[in-house]
Amino acid sequence: MVVSDMFYCVAPMMGKTDSFFCYLLNLVNKKTLVYTEMMHAESIIRTNILENYNILNNLSNVAIQIAGSDPRRLALAAKKAENYGFNEININCGCPSKRVVSGSFGINLLLNPSLVRECVEEIKNKVSKQVSIKTRIGVDSQTSDNVLDYFLIELNKEYINKYIIHARIAIRGKLNTKDNLSVPSLNYERVFRLKEKFKGNKIIINGGFKNTDYNKEVFKNIDGIMIGREAYKNPWMFNKNINSNDIDKKKKIIYLYLSFLKNNFQKHLFNKNSLLHIQNIFNGYKGAKNWRQKVAIAIQNKDLNDLLKFIDCDNINRI
Ligand SMILES: Cc1cc2nc3c(=O)[nH]c(=O)nc-3n(C[C@H](O)[C@H](O)[C@H](O)COP(=O)(O)O)c2cc1C
Repeated sequence: MVVSDMFYCVAPMMGKTDSFFCYLLNLVNKKTLVYTEMMHAESIIRTNILENYNILNNLSNVAIQIAGSDPRRLALAAKKAENYGFNEININCGCPSKRVVSGSFGINLLLNPSLVRECVEEIKNKVSKQVSIKTRIGVDSQTSDNVLDYFLIELNKEYINKYIIHARIAIRGKLNTKDNLSVPSLNYERVFRLKEKFKGNKIIINGGFKNTDYNKEVFKNIDGIMIGREAYKNPWMFNKNINSNDIDKKKKIIYLYLSFLKNNFQKHLFNKNSLLHIQNIFNGYKGAKNWRQKVAIAIQNKDLNDLLKFIDCDNINRI
């Protein structure tokens, strides 16, 4: 198999990059790095949320994103995640949701690098896996280059090497979480300047990328591109061996995924999200509308047999 370029990875997305989506992505390309949806340190410590990831035999291409701001609790959560086999521990320093902001983590941490340093120090005392940070280029009126530059200067003292930068500022309070993903404009130049200044760091750019066909020359030494919403809509982009003509390969992968789900739901609770991940997967092909309806019915009935038959009977084809 020709694996897709490791330059690209999949962004953490609440309600989207759960264990089932990671499983699906593994079927598309085992080597694509995917970041889990954000999990709070407390829920990692106090619940069995990580057990959801037991469906994956191998977590070597899965990075866990952890939220929180209590150094000891974050370190405890990171240790538990490391024991599960996650390949990278990512700290959320970019989420602007009300809940996160009032809990004093997420994007608030961009303005509190000394606290993030404490967190990283504690985590690094406990785990040996790579620790990375995801943040934005600024917050509210704190948009000068100094803010993010200072953040990196401080965190580099704790030997953080990898930063994922969403190329937008966040606006707390005035914009909701969804609008914070589109209203503040994208500013790639700011991320290029960051890389120019912090050449020794691995800088991954994020925000607004649509596919895995970008010309790397344009990206001025940037070390990688993280893709969120488009990756969810079209995970096929992570395997260059599967193009739009390869409907049979796609059907085979979805068949495998459904067979796995069917088996899984005989032992564990039915999970609606696992099917939502594939509801739009055949968009652009003949039969896509029927497929979407069949998925909705399968969710309602908690029964995957009709979906398996639908794929098997050649109901989805090129237009
Ligand atoms: C539904 C959804 C959920 C998200 N959840 C998270 C999250 O849990 N942690 C995080 O750091 N970013 C989260 N994000 C932001 C994405 O990781 C990414 O930064 C953003 O969508 C911009 O990338 P894109 O334009 O490629 O989608 C979320 C975005 C979406 C659309």
